[in-house]
Amino acid sequence: MNQSHRRLFLPLLSVLLLTASAVVADSSSTLTRQGAIGGERRLVSPGGVFQLGLFPVANGTKWFLGIWFTVSPPAVVWVANRDRPLDALSSGMVTLSGGGDLVLLYTARDNVTVWSSNSSAAAPAAVAQLHDNGNLMLTSEAGAVVWQSFEHPTNTFISEMRTGRDLRTGAVWSLSSWRDADDPSAGDFRYDMDTSGSPELHIWREGRKTYRTGPWNGVRFSGIPEMTTFEDMFEFRFTDTADEVSYGYRDRVGSPPSRVVLNESGVMQRMVWDRATGAWNTFWSGPRDQCDSYGLCGAFGVCNVVDAIVCSCVHGFQQRSPAEWRMRDASGGCARRTPLRCGDDSDGFYALRGVKLPETHGSSVDAGASLEECGRRCLSNCNCTAYAASDIRGGGAGTGCIQWFVDLMDTRFVDGGQDLFVRLALSDLENTKTKKFPAVIATVITGFALLALLIGFLIWRKRDRPWWLRHCLQGGNARRPGSCSEEAVDRE
Ligand SMILES: *[C@@H]1O[C@H](CO)[C@@H](O)[C@H](O)[C@H]1NC(C)=O
Ligand SMILES: *[C@@H]1O[C@H](CO)[C@@H](O)[C@H](O)[C@H]1NC(C)=O
Ligand SMILES: *[C@@H]1O[C@H](CO)[C@@H](O)[C@H](O)[C@H]1NC(C)=O
Ligand SMILES: *[C@@H]1O[C@H](CO)[C@@H](O)[C@H](O)[C@H]1NC(C)=O
Ligand SMILES: *[C@@H]1O[C@H](CO)[C@@H](O)[C@H](O)[C@H]1NC(C)=O
Repeated sequence: MNQSHRRLFLPLLSVLLLTASAVVADSSSTLTRQGAIGGERRLVSPGGVFQLGLFPVANGTKWFLGIWFTVSPPAVVWVANRDRPLDALSSGMVTLSGGGDLVLLYTARDNVTVWSSNSSAAAPAAVAQLHDNGNLMLTSEAGAVVWQSFEHPTNTFISEMRTGRDLRTGAVWSLSSWRDADDPSAGDFRYDMDTSGSPELHIWREGRKTYRTGPWNGVRFSGIPEMTTFEDMFEFRFTDTADEVSYGYRDRVGSPPSRVVLNESGVMQRMVWDRATGAWNTFWSGPRDQCDSYGLCGAFGVCNVVDAIVCSCVHGFQQRSPAEWRMRDASGGCARRTPLRCGDDSDGFYALRGVKLPETHGSSVDAGASLEECGRRCLSNCNCTAYAASDIRGGGAGTGCIQWFVDLMDTRFVDGGQDLFVRLALSDLENTKTKKFPAVIATVITGFALLALLIGFLIWRKRDRPWWLRHCLQGGNARRPGSCSEEAVDRE
């Protein structure tokens, strides 16, 4: 199916599904051992916000078990059998198995299990319920949560969901994109929390990082300062404890439905439902520009979208390969002008202001240290290449300490960015100062030269003038301008 057909088809499909859901009179939010859903029967959350059931893609040739917003059926937020589609609406049935798992059976093929919740809980699930936040929960007789769809995200996270890691169980809450609009199986892109260092979210494409948000700085992600401008709609939640590192958000009361999707092009799209137009508006998306593309300027490079040439080297560094840089390939990065000697008073720090902090993978974080202490620690460790504050909630320069021990990767200028203190040999730091000295000296010299010229001219005017000119100027009795020269010419 080509793109234009699909565009026509999806709205049509949503109308069909909406009318179908109105037809299902006995729609319930729960499924018990005795029940089953399939065909056009679905679960509807108590407030009617979400539905769970079978939905089609590719013009109805493939069917999947999923959860979607009732207002917008094509906005599927979760898919069960991503890799194993059913071929018809009538061929699927969802039940709670004897073992207490939610299963999708292929009725046309002897009830073979197409998908299972695979919960490893001790107590079997007695009931499955779809809640108004979009979470499908399996609970035991005793009411214990056995399994929940929020713990198994597909390509979308919504209000009250988390992305990140459970450090105790090793569970990963990451997203993977659909392969394409007709295929919800895992595509090339993944969205995942990196917990080595100061936690940050990365987009990966087949084993290569393509984008990172920058580390959380207590208020927002270091690379997304504009997050603070949408705090009136979403409450951001970042958890960084020994048990869990996660990020999620919550729609504020009265805010319209929203969802964050890792789309098939590898872009995180935050979308908000516009009731007036009945459409999802892209509220924010990232990567936003060239400089968000991971590692564009290489090690110790800095990216700036405002400049025509986006990449430059951090002060004290020079292009590793000027030839490649000239061909606009800066990925080779920059090399230190003067090697560090790592003595007590041979190194210092250059303050790079207003940046998205570099990749923190492998960095060390101490939330308890002050920024001054951080600088001292970095200076006393020969492997430390830079430091920065880990928390800017208190304002000012911030508190806490991130230390980098490797080449600084993926640094860029952003409005409302943070300060990064880069270790340099003192001689490279002094260059910043000595650059000013020649300027001052030059000004002074120029000043003196001008003064000397002026004085010289005045003396010359008084003393060294030819006698005829002296006479003329002193005389002041010339009748009209130019008379002197006339006189002079006359005298010659
Ligand atoms: C979609 O399916 C319908 C009937 O099943 C068919 O008439 C139509 O041509 C199909 N559209 C595309 C784009 O394949
Ligand atoms: C599949 O399961 C349903 C419900 O348990 C049952 O009614 C039906 O007979 C089963 N079909 C086959 C082919 O086993
Ligand atoms: C459930 O477990 C089976 C066997 O371990 C595995 O093949 C299958 O992929 C799992 N399904 C899900 C949805 O995790
Ligand atoms: C992904 O999101 C970006 C930014 O909103 C958009 O330009 C692009 O078309 C989207 N890709 C797909 C496949 O929807
Ligand atoms: C610096 O790095 C080297 C090599 O990785 C390591 O052997 C050494 O212990 C480190 N020094 C400090 C002070 O961390």
